[in-house]
Amino acid sequence: MGVDGADGADGALVGRAALVTGASRGIGLAVAEELGAAGAGVCVTARDAEALRAAVGRLRDTGVRAVGVAGSVADPAHLHACVERTTAEFGRIDIVVNNAGTNTPYGPLMEADPQDWSAAFAVNVEAPLRLVQAAWRAWMREHGGAVVNICTEGATHVGPHLGAYLTSKAALLRLTQQLAGELAPSVRVNAVSPGLVRTEMARFVWDGAEPALAAGLPLGRLGEPVDIARAVLWLVSDAAAWVTGADLLVDGGTRVRRARPA
Ligand SMILES: NC(=O)c1ccc[n+]([C@@H]2O[C@H](COP(=O)([O-])OP(=O)(O)OC[C@H]3O[C@@H](n4cnc5c(N)ncnc54)[C@H](OP(=O)(O)O)[C@@H]3O)[C@@H](O)[C@H]2O)c1
Repeated sequence: MGVDGADGADGALVGRAALVTGASRGIGLAVAEELGAAGAGVCVTARDAEALRAAVGRLRDTGVRAVGVAGSVADPAHLHACVERTTAEFGRIDIVVNNAGTNTPYGPLMEADPQDWSAAFAVNVEAPLRLVQAAWRAWMREHGGAVVNICTEGATHVGPHLGAYLTSKAALLRLTQQLAGELAPSVRVNAVSPGLVRTEMARFVWDGAEPALAAGLPLGRLGEPVDIARAVLWLVSDAAAWVTGADLLVDGGTRVRRARPA
């Protein structure tokens, strides 16, 4: 059930299994809830085992078949464990949602530690590739599937202090397109690019500034995690069977805001 009471696609994913990274809160948890409500079994991940346990409990309380694997997507062994757990639990892995991300190192790039820069790419770019490779080898190469990578509305332009984030997300967007071409026709690979969503990761942007930020958006409010989750649900469902390599912008009109009369 979404924030305004709209149900997910009824039964669209019954019998399928999904792996959602970074899903103990925020967008990832909302994605797990939407996919689960549509009938998928879901495996969720996060580093904090306690928070992940709570998220799995919350999913199960709503009738979703859910399991969790704690760890960082920066650890290749963790990614393999996630795929193994998903296939062991559900017998398949039809859907991968690469949602875990980092917006560090924050600040001017001339002050960025190269190791922190590499760490950002390990989480935002390398982990999605490793996870798709693992899912491809375990299930998708033979049976097909759908992948969604969570990018950002900001990936196509530059901005202060977010150089590592925006550069790595731009790389993730290009990776999405490359994989879409390479893995077709059996596996569809798409991106969802959110605008500003009211989550912990973005709190430093919206906390205390929400009314002004909302007023500046054509659709008049900040995003909620479920706004992004519904886009993911559509992309992984058969309703999007002829969609691959797409970047679905879900941004409340951020990109078109300059057309508004003052
Ligand atoms: N919020 C926005 O405005 C916005 C806009 C554009 C794009 N996005 C993208 O949306 C995605 C989700 O962000 P969010 O806003 O929902 O963030 P969030 O509310 O802070 O949630 C992030 C989730 O990812 C987990 N996580 C973080 N690093 C991880 C790692 N290395 N390995 C495994 N799990 C990890 C966190 O749990 P642990 O900390 O316990 O690991 C948590 O479950 C990110 O890729 C972000 O770049 C967000």
